[in-house]
Amino acid sequence: MPLDHDAASRTEEARAILRANDRGGYTVPSARMYPFQWNWDSPLTAIGWACFDPDRAWQEFETLTSGQWPDGMIPHIVFHAPSDGYYPGPDAWGTSHAPRTSGISQPPVAATCLRRLVDGAADREAALRRARPLIVKLTAWHRWWHETRDPAGSGLVACLHPWETGRDNAVEWDAPLAGVTSRVEVSALRKDILHADPAERPTHDYYNRVMTIVEDGKTVGWNGPAFHARSPFRVCDLGIQSLLLRADEDLAVLAREAALPDIAAALEAWRVRSLAAMTRLWNPATGAFHSLDLLTGRLTESVGIATLLVLHAGAASRDQALTVIETWTRGTATCRFAAPSTLPAIPGFDARRYWRGPVWPFMNRLVADGFTRYGRDDLAERLRTDTRTLIAQSGFREYFDPFTGAGLGGKDFSWTAAAWLVWAGHDAGAAAD
Ligand code: DGY
Repeated sequence: MPLDHDAASRTEEARAILRANDRGGYTVPSARMYPFQWNWDSPLTAIGWACFDPDRAWQEFETLTSGQWPDGMIPHIVFHAPSDGYYPGPDAWGTSHAPRTSGISQPPVAATCLRRLVDGAADREAALRRARPLIVKLTAWHRWWHETRDPAGSGLVACLHPWETGRDNAVEWDAPLAGVTSRVEVSALRKDILHADPAERPTHDYYNRVMTIVEDGKTVGWNGPAFHARSPFRVCDLGIQSLLLRADEDLAVLAREAALPDIAAALEAWRVRSLAAMTRLWNPATGAFHSLDLLTGRLTESVGIATLLVLHAGAASRDQALTVIETWTRGTATCRFAAPSTLPAIPGFDARRYWRGPVWPFMNRLVADGFTRYGRDDLAERLRTDTRTLIAQSGFREYFDPFTGAGLGGKDFSWTAAAWLVWAGHDAGAAAD
């Protein structure tokens, strides 16, 4: 079905955003606010590139994995080229890798996006050949999550910094962060509030706490096991746990097809172990899955969008899925646009502030995929049409107010453009994802 005129011009705009944010083999999330390569933005943006320039999509994975550490970790930022528009830059992280990187990781969505790239390739054999070294590198990263971040082999992987979760400022992290005593004062160094309204960004107190955790990482020379033992913030993030489960599944499929059976077997074993551990994250009283504070042993109280990522992972039983969907639908009835990043009734919800309430287009796409996996195409379609309306109404912004639809955070955002290209910009019926 042809796109209507407005949709077609928005598709052109989305492509233009990716081209403008291209720095030669990698795409910055937004030109001024995030001027480097970010771990989970990059593959989610790559699948947008794949819609009109597949070779460019592949490069995104190759540049991202050039930042991989010897222990397998793929960092959350790769600082390929200098820029003074962002804090904390490479000197603040104090890592020793070349190219320079941050010292923490981010949600492992790369394997899932790589599978999509291979599935969409015109020549599958050639795609698998190009994917082979990436499969090996991504498996080393998954191993790092399953071993360095789960030394006891519990099936629950740890995040040591809120920025690893990607949902940096989620209400879920308020209680674990309250246990971090600030030892730094960084408010004067912040650049993010020069690019976005401070009311849409985290507070100074938050920045002091998260940069204190960075100091802890530096103190142990960013050694994986030592940082795991020392960090004052240690949570099993439901988002990472779910996205890793899904990514293990997708990577195992690719590994089998690329004639890497040992890798496939390792991935399948990790998946079985992680799946079994999901019962520890289920709370029948709230009718939702939660993140777990590994230092206190308590489930976080907030219910956020990550509870729906369990469906994307195929990790909920049918009954749990029905209950989660009921909890979510009831809890978001007051929202005009789906899906808010936190249920509005949760204390700490903020419709305009970073990850505390706003809608994120790429997250809607992941959640819609989960709804489809559980046979709820109707809910997936609602997410698609809401995302389409938000972008049409407010542009390719970083996030959106779930009540008014106002555009928030950064502008001309790469993964918002990609979400349009791969999904939201399609006509109904052509949106299969
Ligand atoms: C930021 O600087 O806000 C980033 O999200 C950290 O990764």
